[in-house]
Amino acid sequence: MSKQPQGKNGATAKAAPLTHQQAHEIQPFGQLVSMPIALSEKTRRASVDNLNQILVDTIVLKDLYKKHHWQVTGPTFYQLHLLFDKHAGEQEGWVDLLAERIQTLGGVTLAMPHDSAERTLIPRPPKGREEVPVQISRLLHGHEVVLEEARAMARQAAAAGDEGTNDLLVGTIVRGNELQVWFLAQHVVDTPTVRAE
Ligand SMILES: [Fe+2]
Repeated sequence: MSKQPQGKNGATAKAAPLTHQQAHEIQPFGQLVSMPIALSEKTRRASVDNLNQILVDTIVLKDLYKKHHWQVTGPTFYQLHLLFDKHAGEQEGWVDLLAERIQTLGGVTLAMPHDSAERTLIPRPPKGREEVPVQISRLLHGHEVVLEEARAMARQAAAAGDEGTNDLLVGTIVRGNELQVWFLAQHVVDTPTVRAE
């Protein structure tokens, strides 16, 4: 840590912000600190590793919703514009719950877009705009990636006695994503809008 600036006027110098400070990390990524929550390090480590994967996939799915919220087109523009934003907002809330669970277990959360891009299992979409059915197909696939891993990780957490992680994965991530899939999937059911067939 750098020293307090020594000015002629001591009081003024003390009030100056100390900028451009650098030091070593206090907890490198991948290392766990002990937490008094009656769970073994092995159990906490397994949950932290799994939660970081769900976390980056949830971050990317949230961003995919925002991309489509901005880029959506066509006669259902307004309704999808609003729905995509609602789902993005819910995903953002889950991102926070996942990240805070990782820290609660003594782990280090992934956080930056570079790290999410590196590790996510959700395919990268093009930068340009796509048609609504393609946007929805991408989102549905993203949900399925999250659902598949969340169920497997929830079972693993329960088997290891980490009920808190199991509860978050089942009660929030699995059920929340399933509900969003239902709302989304109904938009690609090919039914007439004006004249019944
Ligand atoms: Fe917006």
